[in-house]
Amino acid sequence: MNRWLVVRAMLLAFCAGAATCAPAQDNSKKEETCFESRKGATQVIKREIRPGLPNVRCSPTTGAVLWYGDPFEGTVPMARMPLLDKIAEGQAVVKPRSDKLNFLAQCGTVCHNGVMPKGFPKDNRPVPIPTMEAMVPDVKNLQHGRGRIWCLECHHSTKRNALVDHFGDPVSFDQPQQLCGKCHGDKLRDWRDGIHGKRIGEFTSTGKKRWFTCTECHNPHDVQDGARNRGFVALQPEPPPQLPKGMKDAKHEKTHPIAH
Ligand code: HEC
Ligand code: HEC
Ligand code: HEC
Repeated sequence: MNRWLVVRAMLLAFCAGAATCAPAQDNSKKEETCFESRKGATQVIKREIRPGLPNVRCSPTTGAVLWYGDPFEGTVPMARMPLLDKIAEGQAVVKPRSDKLNFLAQCGTVCHNGVMPKGFPKDNRPVPIPTMEAMVPDVKNLQHGRGRIWCLECHHSTKRNALVDHFGDPVSFDQPQQLCGKCHGDKLRDWRDGIHGKRIGEFTSTGKKRWFTCTECHNPHDVQDGARNRGFVALQPEPPPQLPKGMKDAKHEKTHPIAH
């Protein structure tokens, strides 16, 4: 659980029922946040890029981003990847994940500081890790791979602020496609071809595009989603568009002007 949520939960528990406890509301300054793709993990704060131009517009129904003032805001170049080397430098960008990961700064310094911790397992088999239970809620029943994969298939054993490729070399948390693609080659190929995932930006084929990376949509620790047993947590859909003012129904759309 994110630390802010913990603090908020504590405040709620403390304040329950006491109206005087409510923080003073200042609506003019209230921050509006919405999520880009994965709820709780891809939050953006709404603000003005310049007067009258917001960075995003948020859906009041789902809390999802509906529109971008600048689709490239906060992005970094996508790592060079096989078969994507024809894309001109700077035309493919991704949004970094590192600043969304609260534990990352500590991970590589406090406990896993470049050396194997004492008593650390010598292989990748599952073992109980009581110290991680608060950070990874499904650690006892990892919701990925149905019991056939474990932490060090994905996390670098000595450089804990990095993921790991098949050769044991570090992969940046900002370029997770390089990790996921090592086991999900078919999905990587679909993603590369634009069949899986999402891109936004310039419409032309050679235009600049932001590629959504795997972890912007999938929670790597919970791809099975418990009883649902599928790869994706369903979102509430947007309602259908409203009819124009004065129009009672859309039956006219069913009649074709030319008989056939
Ligand atoms: C399938 C690959 C995979 C497996 C298996 C995996 N992780 Fe992760 N883990 C990731 C990725 C990718 C991220 C970054 C997620 C993101 O960008 O939202 C991450 C993030 C984390 C974080 C940082 C979370 C934060 O918010 O700062 C911790 C801690 C962590 N993993 C621990 C574990 C532990 C412990 C295990 C084993 C029980 C494990 N992971 C298994 C891929 C994996
Ligand atoms: C070490 C290999 C490995 C890596 C790395 C890996 N996965 Fe998986 N993944 C698996 C296995 C095994 C399954 C289970 C397939 C099954 O049982 O049908 C799976 C299943 C999935 C599923 C389908 C959910 C289900 O089980 O129905 C999704 C979605 C998924 N992975 C996404 C990712 C993403 C995103 C990443 C990168 C963060 C990633 N995987 C990295 C091995 C891996
Ligand atoms: C824009 C969001 C998005 C991105 C980016 C994305 N995925 Fe997915 N992925 C989905 C959705 C939606 C599904 C369908 C899940 C379902 O059917 O429940 C899915 C399904 C999957 C599955 C399961 C397929 C199955 O047959 O059950 C795997 C594996 C997977 N994605 C891997 C990846 C990998 C690897 C990447 C990065 C290269 C990636 N995804 C990027 C949204 C995304």
